[in-house]
Amino acid sequence: MSLGIPMSMPKPLAVVMVGLPARGKTYIARKLARYLDWTGYQAEVFNVGNYRRQQFGAQVPASFFDPTNDAGLTSRRQAANVAMNDMLAWFRAGGQIAIYDATNSTHARRTWVTAQCEAEGIDVLFIETLCNDPAIIAANIRDTKLLAPDYQGIDPAQAVADFRARIAHYEEAYEPIDSDTMSFVKLIDVGSRVEAQHVRGYIQGRITQFVMNLHITPRTIWLTRHGESAANRAGVIGTDMPLTERGAAYAVALANHINALEEPPGSVWTSTLQRTIQTAAPLNRSTDTLKVLDEIDAGICDGMTYAQIEEQMPGDFARRKADKLTYRYPRGESYADVIGRLDPLILELERQQNPVLIVSHNAVIRVLLGYLADVKRDDVPHTEIPLHSLIALTPRAYGCEVQFIPLLNDH
Ligand code: SIN
Repeated sequence: MSLGIPMSMPKPLAVVMVGLPARGKTYIARKLARYLDWTGYQAEVFNVGNYRRQQFGAQVPASFFDPTNDAGLTSRRQAANVAMNDMLAWFRAGGQIAIYDATNSTHARRTWVTAQCEAEGIDVLFIETLCNDPAIIAANIRDTKLLAPDYQGIDPAQAVADFRARIAHYEEAYEPIDSDTMSFVKLIDVGSRVEAQHVRGYIQGRITQFVMNLHITPRTIWLTRHGESAANRAGVIGTDMPLTERGAAYAVALANHINALEEPPGSVWTSTLQRTIQTAAPLNRSTDTLKVLDEIDAGICDGMTYAQIEEQMPGDFARRKADKLTYRYPRGESYADVIGRLDPLILELERQQNPVLIVSHNAVIRVLLGYLADVKRDDVPHTEIPLHSLIALTPRAYGCEVQFIPLLNDH
């Protein structure tokens, strides 16, 4: 399979998070893993907090994290060790990029992590998040930490006080990365300033670019297929046919819905094909027309029905059925190719601080939803995306809520 990017890596890579609690490490770790998995790498997060919860219970007091508490230190080292051993075993089984999600807040701990990885031929890239903005820290505690098992059933005010005491213990021992030799990216104040050192090769560069574009301002993303087109009506794939009357009615319903929102989209993106442009027209909003949002290229099958493909090209039909993700239409694209071409758009989408509406096509919406809603890569080509429904993705703790909103009664 070729995505236009090298999928084989010279060496496996451990991305090691560094930072005080409530600085967005887990948010970045999970987003990065999802992004890497979506692009086709074997990626996994190893969260030391989860190991600590499994071994010592979720609800340990803040004093557990006191750097002068020897028993606490031993237990925390043990949790870090078990997570590390699991991560190394995962690499030995063929894993490509692991994210070791922990505070890793001292030089000694980072030296230990580096030694463990290097002994197994694994490259290490540290990502340190530094942030002293009290509003961002407070929002992070409220939006993620209070929902964690550590504070289930505990009064929110008491939970916040305990978590702040935990942070204070980490602060007593915290040593920011200060090394001439380690590979690292420092994200300062949610990426307003970025420092990088010894970032090497394609994948480390890609990861750096991805994390630089992340922010934590919550905003909704809307996705929709175009309204019904003459090609949908005729049952043919591809082409550039206009909307039917039904499709045009959806365009009006979409505009009525979107334009009545309290927070309507700051950007509207369509493909270059007339059915998406016509669907967005009644919105009467400025629109970007993007080639990357064009439907999967069906190559020589453009304009055929599936029944014709089955009859005239049975080998292709069977290959597509067996592996829809990697099957490439002759002189056209595969779903994996579509993922490859949408990769830069994901960075742009992450960068947007305002709501965005994307009007595109079945395969493209499947691929975008795959990334945004964490759909398993193999399942991406099979996700049901109905016509005439708007998909709303609303940010929640570490993921998003997905809602399908039918806007036309088609039955
Ligand atoms: C935790 O136990 O919650 C995190 C452990 C660490 O990274 O220091």
